[in-house]
Amino acid sequence: MYTFMSAEEAAQFINNGDVVGMGGFTPAGAPKDVPTAIAKRAEEAHARGEEFKIGIYTGASTGDSCDGMLARAHAISFRAPYQSNKDLRTELNNQDAHYFDMHLSQLAQELRYGFLPKPKFAIVEACAVTELGEIVPTAGVGIMPTICRLADHIIVELNEAMPPVMRGIHDIYEPADPPMRREIPLYHVGDRIGTDCIKVDPKKIIAIVKTNRPNEVGKFSPLDDTTEKIGANVAAFLEEEMHAGRIPKSFLPIQSGVGNIANAVLAALGENKHIPPFQMYTEVIQDSVVQLMKEGRVTFASGCSLTIGADKLQDIIDHMDFFRRRIVLRPQEISNNPEIARRLGLITINTALEADIYGNINSTHVCGTKMMNGIGGSGDFTRNAYISIFTTPSTAKSGAISSFVPMVSHLDHSEHSVKVIITEHGIADLRGKSPVQRAQTIIDNCVDPAYKPLLQEYLHLCKTAHTPHNLRLATAMHQEFLNSGDMRNTKWENYL
Ligand code: COA
Repeated sequence: MYTFMSAEEAAQFINNGDVVGMGGFTPAGAPKDVPTAIAKRAEEAHARGEEFKIGIYTGASTGDSCDGMLARAHAISFRAPYQSNKDLRTELNNQDAHYFDMHLSQLAQELRYGFLPKPKFAIVEACAVTELGEIVPTAGVGIMPTICRLADHIIVELNEAMPPVMRGIHDIYEPADPPMRREIPLYHVGDRIGTDCIKVDPKKIIAIVKTNRPNEVGKFSPLDDTTEKIGANVAAFLEEEMHAGRIPKSFLPIQSGVGNIANAVLAALGENKHIPPFQMYTEVIQDSVVQLMKEGRVTFASGCSLTIGADKLQDIIDHMDFFRRRIVLRPQEISNNPEIARRLGLITINTALEADIYGNINSTHVCGTKMMNGIGGSGDFTRNAYISIFTTPSTAKSGAISSFVPMVSHLDHSEHSVKVIITEHGIADLRGKSPVQRAQTIIDNCVDPAYKPLLQEYLHLCKTAHTPHNLRLATAMHQEFLNSGDMRNTKWENYL
């Protein structure tokens, strides 16, 4: 009943100016062959001197065969809500593509509300498609339910590397829109409130493309001294909170961010046997979770994707009976939902690019201008956390950049939402502290020794006011980095 075709044939449906929604979340579950074929189509059009650019929504980042190929083909007019691809980053920072960096929980509803251009096509990866129009996602869900419903046409990449046995791991639920929305009936991490697949009108499925491609998830850097210390500090902080009675003895669900540091933090939590086995209500389920689940340290993980290497994913597929009872994959509107985060009491742990001495966080912009990745789900979770933690190495680029500056060069999470900051040097507990008290705590506990005198001097120079600043000096460390390549050369008198 469905039309099977090659990726190149399916790509012929997509034309210049079209808006496309991609399934999956991170490289997990993102389509691969059709985006690559669209990129090729764009390159051919450009060679003929014709325009070819499309608008793209995704769950989060994708693999190189999607964002990388399309970016290198200069085929993207706009992109939302998150990316982490080197070549796409270059496109965005060169203003060759427009980027809406959004809270991930909000994209699906903003598409439904009509705030953003409607997707004409949904391109999704599936492990199974039935004659009834049931599409079973693979390792990531993202915005799939919404784009499949809103799009006029659906192209399915049926990935044979993702067997139909994955059915049952997903829980697909789309809330009603205001004024009809009610509470989301999810009260425990493992609750299932929806269906095990996405149901569409079969007539909308215009093409099925068979593929056989593993997850394009990259490997993590091995733990080093810094990431290990950060992880150990997070574990020590949570252990102490539990002993002090501020976290229940049964513990609370953990949300953990993306990247190397997040992976290291989880490994440390797993190792600290004073912390009881715990659950995760998170966005991406990273490599370390699978091992911790096997060891019984993580008892359940709710997420939006299995952002894990191909070997780890195969392990899950091979032991589906074990993992299906311990993992659920939800649309990002639910995995990152503020209502649920507040209800479940999440301990949220995300990574900062830069923080200021008053506890404001920049997660996205290098020196305030260049986009790194995007805010992702960090805002969804931080603002609604039981307790929100940010981790960061105290320096970047071999010490030439201090992660702590007088004033963040871009603001993603304000002092009002950030409760604790942790580096390899220690823990700054910002709760119940005024701005000046926060600054002293951060300088004493988190800042690298090479930068402590500089930031202490800044605090003295600024003297009074509720949040003391000297607006001429507030970005001097950034300017010094841009001038000499090393913030350690900063001399306040040069910028007065
Ligand atoms: N200025 C300039 N560059 C900086 C920097 C700063 N203040 N701090 C870090 N960097 C650079 C590092 O040097 C590194 O560069 P490299 O890739 O060239 O080596 C890069 O940023 C990544 O830093 P790293 O220390 O390896 O951290 P990470 O892999 O854990 O990523 C973020 C950190 C902030 C980029 C990442 O967590 C992110 O994108 N966060 C936003 C989204 C988010 O929080 N999502 C989770 C929600 S569930």
